[in-house]
Amino acid sequence: MVELVPSILSADFAHLAEEIAAAERGGGTVIHVDVMDGHFVPNMTLGPPVVASLRKATELPLDCHLMIDNPNEFIPAFAEAGADWVSVHYEACPHLHRTLQMIADHGMKPGVVLNPATRVDLIFDILPMVHHVLIMSVNPGFGGQDFIPFTLNKIRRLAEIRSELGLGFKIKVDGGVAHDTVAWVVQAGAELLVAGNAVFGAGHPERDARALLEAARKAGVPIGRS
Ligand code: DX5
Ligand code: ZN
Repeated sequence: MVELVPSILSADFAHLAEEIAAAERGGGTVIHVDVMDGHFVPNMTLGPPVVASLRKATELPLDCHLMIDNPNEFIPAFAEAGADWVSVHYEACPHLHRTLQMIADHGMKPGVVLNPATRVDLIFDILPMVHHVLIMSVNPGFGGQDFIPFTLNKIRRLAEIRSELGLGFKIKVDGGVAHDTVAWVVQAGAELLVAGNAVFGAGHPERDARALLEAARKAGVPIGRS
């Protein structure tokens, strides 16, 4: 099953509740919240207080993608704010096992994120702990960037590893997922499609979410909440 995970990074921040509701009507089933600190990535966005407000605005799971240094320091605050899924970067976590355990201990679903230049095989040992693996298909920090094609090989490799190990984590992709790339990512094996610009960029999130899911369906994959 393939699901659309709209990223609010490209939404109108003054009208987030309406933007999210529209993306949900268009078929989005999880809301992706990009948290950036100006250190790990060269951009800043939002933190737990905004997540707490979003929690009141939608019933959909809130998927917080932490692009921050020292994520351990903030995990309790995201739990308190009502985050459902929390993903952390391999590149930001010297003690990744501990960080993933901490997310789970706070009642949230842990995910691990790999930058384009980070090899999939490096996370082999922690795969049994994760709810999802997020393959970045752009360098994190900004919406609206071009999809990096070699990341498709990483999605394929991860799908192979998952079946070799008999695990059930989800494969998620983030960055440049749009009308012209969505068929590639779903055919490579991605199931959770994060999309910011392609959903919110033109100001028609309901229409554009629906169109993106339709393009995935035409690529031959079943759509729906798993
Ligand atoms: C980038 C973020 C993405 C971003 C994707 O650092 O992690 O979630 O919103 O944006 P698009 O879909 O516009 O490439
Ligand atoms: Zn993201």
